[in-house]
Formats: sequence, structure tokens, C-alpha cells
Amino acid sequence: MEVVKTLVSLRRWRATTHRSVGLVPTMGFLHEGHLALVRKARAENDLVAVSIFVNPRQFGPDEDLARYPRDTEHDLALLRAESVDLVFIPTVDEMYPPGFSTSVDVGSLGERLEGLSRPGHFKGVATVVARLLNLTRPQRAYFGQKDAQQVIVVRRMVKDLALTVQIDAVPTVREPDGLALSSRNIFLSIEERQAASVLSRALFRAQESFEWGERDAQRIRQIVRDMLDLELLVRTDYVSVADAVTLDELEQIDRPALLSLAAWVGQTRLIDNLPLEA
Ligand code: PAJ
Repeated sequence: MEVVKTLVSLRRWRATTHRSVGLVPTMGFLHEGHLALVRKARAENDLVAVSIFVNPRQFGPDEDLARYPRDTEHDLALLRAESVDLVFIPTVDEMYPPGFSTSVDVGSLGERLEGLSRPGHFKGVATVVARLLNLTRPQRAYFGQKDAQQVIVVRRMVKDLALTVQIDAVPTVREPDGLALSSRNIFLSIEERQAASVLSRALFRAQESFEWGERDAQRIRQIVRDMLDLELLVRTDYVSVADAVTLDELEQIDRPALLSLAAWVGQTRLIDNLPLEA
């Protein structure tokens, strides 16, 4: 496994091969969710590249950039065990050299849901992903369904900028009690960790109701809200039932939809989602 830190060495690695490359962009502190992406990339490509970069441009001024968890040595050990070929770990200066001023703005898709609560977040995501795709020039790039809006935004960008990469979405990996794996789960106290399981329980309960025939989006949102409200340690940010393509909020669920939420569990903000598809 080769570990490179500079754009020049990443480009050099890419230039030496004509084989297919799968890219898995991450911010590190890897868990089984990330590894599910890596395994899919391993199965579908000749070479697998993983990037580890805590991207400051996708964090707001009051967000958790400074305390975002990091453990590069452990990450490298996990990636070595998955037979990854290349790990790219740039510094902030390497990714954003002095004078850097271009950004990728995906428009209204990036301004809903997570984008409403985190202004500028998807601009930061799209910009860094565009840069990583251009540097690595993979055949395929892998993203988790856990961050459903991110998948939608990245696919939109790839289409609009006529990039030639295929974007693959991988199902959310969960703990036995349903909590979606996240690097931020490390921040939860024992009590908060227990309370956090309500996020996925509420989503599954609402999805079940949808499967029994409920098509009123407001009633689906209410099922989720009511369950979250019962947990004293949980504060709801948003609950959304939106068109799975445009992310427009729905009244009637008459097309493929995304049920998603964000909630604070103590000081930690978590997100989760499930598809609503007949
Ligand atoms: P990060 O949060 O590290 O996640 C890296 C990738 O792993 C993302 O595509 C994310 O959706 C996926 N992932 C995280 N938890 C998952 C889970 N429980 N199940 C399945 N996949 C999961 O997302 C980012 O980093 C950044 O925004 C990035 C794309 C790297 C751009 O900076």
C-alpha cells in the first residue's frame, strides 16, 4: 500500500497505470461504513485509492472541525487489511494552496435539508470531491447512502460538469440497534448512545407505516417527530420527506422519496435517512 501526501505524487501514481481505479473519499477515523465502500471498490476495480482529508471548507464556523476525530495510524492499518493500493493524505495547504479561489456550487440542491442547517456545506463537499476526482481520475467513486444528499449532489455535479466517473452509492451500515455508523458517534456518552437509537427506530417505524399504505408526507414526518420528542436527550433539527431526485418537500408521496432527519444528541449532530419507495 502506497501512502502519498502530495498532489504531484498522486498524479505520478495515476500516470503509471492504465488499469481501472476505484476512489473512496473519506475524512478518516474509519469504521465499517467506510470499509463497506472500500470493499465494494476492491471488488469492482483493479486498483483502489482512498483519500483521508478532513475538509475545512465543508465545516461551518461554529461546527466541529477542530474536534473532528482523527487516527491516521489506525486508518492505515484498516486500509492495509483491505488490500488498498493507494492512500492519499494531503495537508490543507496541499489541497488549498495560497490563492485557491474556485468553488463548485450545485445550486438549490445544496441549499435544502443539510444545506439549510449547514450553509456552504455542499459547496465545500462538491469542491473537494471535484478536486479529488480530477487528481485521481477514477473509473468509479464510492459514496455512502448514509449521506443521501451528498450522493445526490455529487451525481448532479458529475452530470453538470460532464465528468466521466461513475458514482456508486453503498447502503448504510448500522449498529445492531440500528444506529447508523458515523465517525461522530465517538462523541456520545453512554446515555446519549442509548438515546441515539431512536433516530433509526423512528425512521423504520415511519417507513413501515409507508409500507402499510400511508402516503401523507406530513403524517410520516409526524411519526418521526413524535418518536424523537419522547427522548429527552434528543433535539430534532429537521425531519423531511422529499422527492428523491429534486429534494423538493412532498405533500403526497406519489414518487420515490427520501425520508431524512438531523438531530442533536447532546452536543453531537447526527443524520440518518431511509428511502420511501412503493
Ligand atoms: P466521511 O464522513 O468520512 O464519509 C466518507 C464516506 O463514507 C461517505 O461517502 C459516507 O457517506 C460514507 N459513510 C459514512 N458512514 C457510513 C455508513 N454508516 N454506512 C455507509 N457509508 C457510510 O462524507 C464525507 O466523509 C465527506 O463529505 C467527503 C465525501 C469525504 C468529502 O469531504
